[in-house]
Amino acid sequence: MERLDKVLANLGYGSRKEIKALVKKGLVTVDGQLVKDSALQLDPEKANIIVNGEAVFYRKFIYLMMNKPDGVVSATFDKYDETVVDLLHPDHGVFQPFPVGRLDKDTVGLLLLTNDGELNHRLISPKWHVDKVYYAHIDKIVDDKDVKACLQGVVLDDGYKCMPGILEILETSEEGSKIKLTIQEGKYHQVKRMFESLGKKVTYLKRISFGGLDLDEDLEEGEYRELTEEELNILKGI
Ligand code: URA
Repeated sequence: MERLDKVLANLGYGSRKEIKALVKKGLVTVDGQLVKDSALQLDPEKANIIVNGEAVFYRKFIYLMMNKPDGVVSATFDKYDETVVDLLHPDHGVFQPFPVGRLDKDTVGLLLLTNDGELNHRLISPKWHVDKVYYAHIDKIVDDKDVKACLQGVVLDDGYKCMPGILEILETSEEGSKIKLTIQEGKYHQVKRMFESLGKKVTYLKRISFGGLDLDEDLEEGEYRELTEEELNILKGI
């Protein structure tokens, strides 16, 4: 059971004081009964709450897929830079979602945001082997030796040996290669550091898939949408 004013405040209907005022004006009903006390205890999953003539759509968790743009940090707060949370509409921001893992400031592509701490934990834990697929531009030509090295586990600058990664060369020209890399870890700057260990530099990095979900290519950079039921089931089924 939860307090009505808390439930409504969490859904963005205003402060508890504002909700008290709505109740006082007779604008809130629960299961057909006019509410007299905004501290009313109810089960938000079951109660039929109407505010100002409109039914309240209750949910505890929110799950968003964002195409993260360049120049924005994957955090809920930053002293200097714009964050991914700053890009959210207040209707979504009110749920206080946070990014699932991190992408570098200059990395673009698929970033999930949620307020579901349990799912977040599962998705970022190396134990669960969640696939992360990156598309990248590399400043030099990537060859079969690099593909083998990734499969065997690249050793990073700090001596850490990565888990096997699947590297695919998509296109090669004099300027370098375009590649796809699938890894299951999320070490700090992992893709960039893997290529540094191979004597190369990542010049563009985009995450195109995470946990079996592909980035919705209809999302422009900076745009986001809620996950569909089907997508959520894919994530939860991991
Ligand atoms: N690897 C990186 O180097 N950067 C990212 O943002 C994600 C993976």
